[in-house]
Amino acid sequence: MVWRVEHFDEIDSTNTYLVDRVRRDDPPEGLVAVAGFQSAGRGRLDRRWESPPGTALLCSLLLRPGLAAEDLQLVVAAVALSARAALVRLTGLRPGLKWPNDLVVGDAKLAGVLAEIVERDGGLAVVVGLGVNLTSEGPAVAGATSVRRATGLTLTPAALLDLVLEELEARRAALDSGDGRVALQREYGDALVWVGQSVRVTTARESVDGIERGVDGRGRLLVEVGRATRCFEVGDVVHLRGATP
Ligand code: BTN
Repeated sequence: MVWRVEHFDEIDSTNTYLVDRVRRDDPPEGLVAVAGFQSAGRGRLDRRWESPPGTALLCSLLLRPGLAAEDLQLVVAAVALSARAALVRLTGLRPGLKWPNDLVVGDAKLAGVLAEIVERDGGLAVVVGLGVNLTSEGPAVAGATSVRRATGLTLTPAALLDLVLEELEARRAALDSGDGRVALQREYGDALVWVGQSVRVTTARESVDGIERGVDGRGRLLVEVGRATRCFEVGDVVHLRGATP
C-alpha cells in the first residue's frame, strides 16, 4: 500500500475532510489525513472527540477493502489491532479492545475508532478515523487514560502513526482473503476484553445481559444469553462487575 499522508496543524475533523474528499474527487485508497488539532472532532453516535492541541494522534485513513457494508466492523478491527500492535512495540503497553471500537487500559479509554462508509459507483470507500490519547486524557471523556498516564512515556503522534501504517500493511491485505479475515477475527477475539465475563449490551432497542463470547466472521459481537447466542452489529458494552458468568 502506498500511504500518502496530508498533515494539518488544525482542521475541523480529519474524518469529515476525507469523507468530503471522497465525495469531491474520489482519491485512491491510502490517503491519510493527520491533524495536530481538531475543532470539531467526532466520535461514535454523534459524540464529540476533543483533544488539546498536540496531545493525541488524530488521523483518518481512506480504505477501499472491497467488502460489503456488513463487514465494516472487520475494517475497524484491522485499524484498531494495528494501533494496538504499534503501541505494544513502542511502549510495551498492551491495550485491550472494547467492542466495537475502543482501545482500553483496564476500564479506561485510551483510543477510539470511527469508521464511515461513503458509497461510490466503484464500490465502498471506508474512512477510518483513529484518535489515540498520548499526553492528555482529553477534557470530554470521563474514565479516559493516555499513553503517558499508563506508561510514563511521551510518544509523538508522528512516531505512532508511522508504526500504525506499518502494522496496517498486513492487516489491510488480510481483509482481501477468506483466510486473512479468519486470522483477523481470531486476533480480534484474542484482544477483546471481557470474553467469558458478564456484560450488558445496550442498543437503541434493548438492553441485554449475558456472557461475552467473542466475535463472528464479520466482527459482530457474540453474547450468550441463556441458552442462545445473540449476535450484535451495533451497541455499547459494559462489564457487569461481580456478576457470576
Ligand atoms: C469514538 O471513540 O467514539 C471514536 C473516536 C474517533 C476519533 C477520531 S480522531 C481522528 C478522527 N477524526 C474525527 O473527527 N474522529 C476520528
